[in-house]
Amino acid sequence: MKELNITLPVVVKGYDELTSDERTLVEAAQHATAGSYSPYSHFKVGAAIRLADGSIVTGANQENAAFPSGTCAERSACFYAGATHPGVAFEAIAIAAIGTDGKPTAQPTAPCGACRQALLEYEMLAKHPVPVLLAGADEVYIVPSVKALLPLAFTEF
Ligand code: THU
Repeated sequence: MKELNITLPVVVKGYDELTSDERTLVEAAQHATAGSYSPYSHFKVGAAIRLADGSIVTGANQENAAFPSGTCAERSACFYAGATHPGVAFEAIAIAAIGTDGKPTAQPTAPCGACRQALLEYEMLAKHPVPVLLAGADEVYIVPSVKALLPLAFTEF
C-alpha cells in the first residue's frame, strides 16, 4: 500500500502585487460580471481568458428557466474563445464574482467541477500550464494550472 498526497500550490497576491498582465486579466473578468444573466441565483460571475494572439475573451454566467440549460461564466468564456479563435492557445484565465449582496465576493470564486474539466481540455490543447487567477475582494489566488485544480482528472482525449 502507498499513499499519495496531492497538493494544490496557490500564490496569494494583493492587488498591488499583481503584474500588469495579471491585473488586466482580473479586471476583464470583473468587468465581464456585467454580462451575467442571473435572475435566479443573483450571483454574477465573469471569466476572462488571455489567448496566445494577445486577445482577451470574456464570458459570464447565463441562467435559464430550465435550470440545467444555464452555463457558468467559465464555460461561456472558453467555448466562446474556442468558437471565435479556433486553434489559438489559452495563456491564462481569470474569474471574478459579484455576490448576492451586490458586492465583489470576499473569497475568491473557484470554477465548478464541470468547468474545470472543460477548461482542462483547452489547457491540454495549449500544451502548457494555463494559470488560473481567482479574484477575491482584497486578494487574488493564483493557481499554476487548470490541472492543479483537478487532480486525477479524466484526460483520455
Ligand atoms: N457559477 C459560475 O458561473 N461559475 C462558477 O465558478 C460557479 C457558479 C454560476 C452558476 C450559476 O449561474 C450561479 O453562478 C450560481 O451558482
